[in-house]
Amino acid sequence: MQKVRAAVLGASGWMGKVHTMAYQTFPHFLGSENGTAEVKILVEANPDAAADLAQRAPEARIVQDWKEAIADPEIDLIDICLPDSLHYEVAKAALLAGKHVYCEKPLADTAAEARELADIAKEKGVITRVGHAFPRNPVHDLAKEIIDAGEIGEIKLFKACQHIDMYGDPLTPYMWRANGELAPTGIIGDTGSHVFSFMEFLVGPVAKLVADNFIVTPKRPVVDGLAYGETAELTGDEDWADITNPDGTNLMVQFANGARGLVDFSRVATGRKFMQTYEIYGTKGSLAYTYDEVNRLRFYSNDDKIGRRGYREIDVGPENETFRAFLPLPNFALGYNESKIIEAAEVVKSIVTNTPAWPTFENGHHICQIVDACMTSSDTQSWVDIA
Ligand SMILES: NC(=O)c1ccc[n+]([C@@H]2O[C@H](COP(=O)([O-])OP(=O)(O)OC[C@H]3O[C@@H](n4cnc5c(N)ncnc54)[C@H](O)[C@@H]3O)[C@@H](O)[C@H]2O)c1
Repeated sequence: MQKVRAAVLGASGWMGKVHTMAYQTFPHFLGSENGTAEVKILVEANPDAAADLAQRAPEARIVQDWKEAIADPEIDLIDICLPDSLHYEVAKAALLAGKHVYCEKPLADTAAEARELADIAKEKGVITRVGHAFPRNPVHDLAKEIIDAGEIGEIKLFKACQHIDMYGDPLTPYMWRANGELAPTGIIGDTGSHVFSFMEFLVGPVAKLVADNFIVTPKRPVVDGLAYGETAELTGDEDWADITNPDGTNLMVQFANGARGLVDFSRVATGRKFMQTYEIYGTKGSLAYTYDEVNRLRFYSNDDKIGRRGYREIDVGPENETFRAFLPLPNFALGYNESKIIEAAEVVKSIVTNTPAWPTFENGHHICQIVDACMTSSDTQSWVDIA
């Protein structure tokens, strides 16, 4: 199969828009020798979105019920961009129907659900992928290359954070992300799972952790009809909804390889529009990354001459094949959407060549185990082992 026939579920949301664009765009940059994709169905519960969706993918059929896409024999790939609480049910139905599945993060609400999905996928022999696209920025391939070559020695400490200002203002209206039924693990599955994907990609499996989850703003006004990122003038007549999942977490981690980790993330970091950083300290050197300089890695090496040691700034550039596919010069910046384009191309390649690529549902399960452990640890105020 050279052309993968895809259905995008939750098509009118942020991720639905990005995934649809990514299938349409990747051959332009990354070529078509490993396959192309055709978006054949857009599934969206909101009927008002139909006209807009028709413009985005004029060839696609627009339907409201995701079961229709799963039942269609002409669909190879079910792409789940739905709210978190739907991932398990929809992914399970798609896998049982023998479809390849690309699911946005977090893979499921619990590790037990994620385990079941990974097992069904294995039994069915289909390709799976979780949408942890941040590590697909080529700068992180450079970080991994330096780590794998032993250039920073044994990793001893991983420090990371991811903070956003989505809920910094206590009057920002309520949305599904703060509803413990629609998103049971709150910021932990939402944002923490991205940090966990970096941990797994760069350092290795987490063995145990202790977490302190917190809610900063217990109630928020309800304003209907707002999309993600939109805000509204309050009238004073609004209902108020309870916030029933964590706003933030502070976390200490031990990795299986003996490294320690110190991680925090939140959605209430007033003023931090988007902050994502990591620092990795080893016995011979260290690495530092901040999303503010999205393609730049800082690398310190004890191999440098005494008196000349210091962090060097490396802008990943066209010497990296993936970067070169987009831009001929460094520091022109590959951003978030390009990471998603790279991810979509990898999903299609995996299907066409029958070669799974990180992060599969198996990896997604391990990340869900970390999320679960954060919830348990904070409830019990104790260290939790991860099998
Ligand atoms: N990988 C990333 O960087 C990243 C970034 C943002 C969101 N996400 C994940 O992507 C998923 C979607 O998030 P979003 O920000 O796009 O949300 P969103 O609210 O913008 O979009 C969700 C869409 O799904 C639709 N929908 C809801 N229930 C439906 C149903 N039963 N059938 C059909 N359509 C339905 C909604 O109408 C909406 O258009 C979430 O799991 C989220 O965690 C991942």
